[in-house]
Amino acid sequence: MTDALLRCKELSKSYQDGGDQVTVLKDIDFALQAGEMVAVVGASGSGKSTLLHLLGGLDKASSGQLFYKDQEMTHWKADKLAQWRNQNLGFVYQFHHLLPEFSALENVAMPQMIAGKSPVEAKKHAKQLLVRVGLEHRLSHRPAQLSGGERQRVAIARAFVNKPQVVLADEPTGNLDGEAAESIYQLMLELNQEMDTAFIVVTHDLQLAEQLQRVEVLKNGILHKEQG
Ligand SMILES: Nc1ncnc2c1ncn2[C@@H]1O[C@H](COP(=O)(O)OP(=O)(O)O)[C@@H](O)[C@H]1O
Ligand SMILES: [Mg+2]
Repeated sequence: MTDALLRCKELSKSYQDGGDQVTVLKDIDFALQAGEMVAVVGASGSGKSTLLHLLGGLDKASSGQLFYKDQEMTHWKADKLAQWRNQNLGFVYQFHHLLPEFSALENVAMPQMIAGKSPVEAKKHAKQLLVRVGLEHRLSHRPAQLSGGERQRVAIARAFVNKPQVVLADEPTGNLDGEAAESIYQLMLELNQEMDTAFIVVTHDLQLAEQLQRVEVLKNGILHKEQG
């Protein structure tokens, strides 16, 4: 038994490259506790995004096991994984992945409508979250009308809208300048405290990573605790 929220055991991922097999992740053991905030750092190409995609059920491991609380989800089918993600998980990507034709409000309301809320309810809650992330003056703007930092705030509001227990953020500040990056980090730290949401934040910015409770380093396919 374990009280971990999200956990993997001996998780490996290999790709076939012509005749060669390239191993990106090798026997990764990792556990995220409820409310915990962990940074994963590593060079470009070290497998950070691959790891997040495996943990979020967006990609299948070559071997190993994946657990959410005490449920093993290694072999769940795509529709069960999609439902699990909608209810328990938020994602924030480096390039926001917002829907370009929709306003900030509609983008944030969308995951709740998918979860079955009425459009009126969904928009009311979406507005509350957008106000919380400092965008009350940008509700009807489309992504192209927002700055990079504002788009990431919308993406964060969207990730939080179904009250997930875990948010997986893949280089959420990778596309922002220092000041905007710092303020997005602060926002995630505050939301972690306010909502007790666990975070895994992938970054190659060690300075930002070190503001988090725990830093894990991905190197040569193996995850190490940072030696402090
Ligand atoms: N679909 C794929 N097919 C083959 N190789 C891949 C695929 N996706 C990722 N890789 C390889 O896996 C390695 C890790 O990629 P990635 O997880 O994106 O790294 P990071 O996010 O740390 O930059 C890279 O060498 C990349 O080329
Ligand atoms: Mg990546």
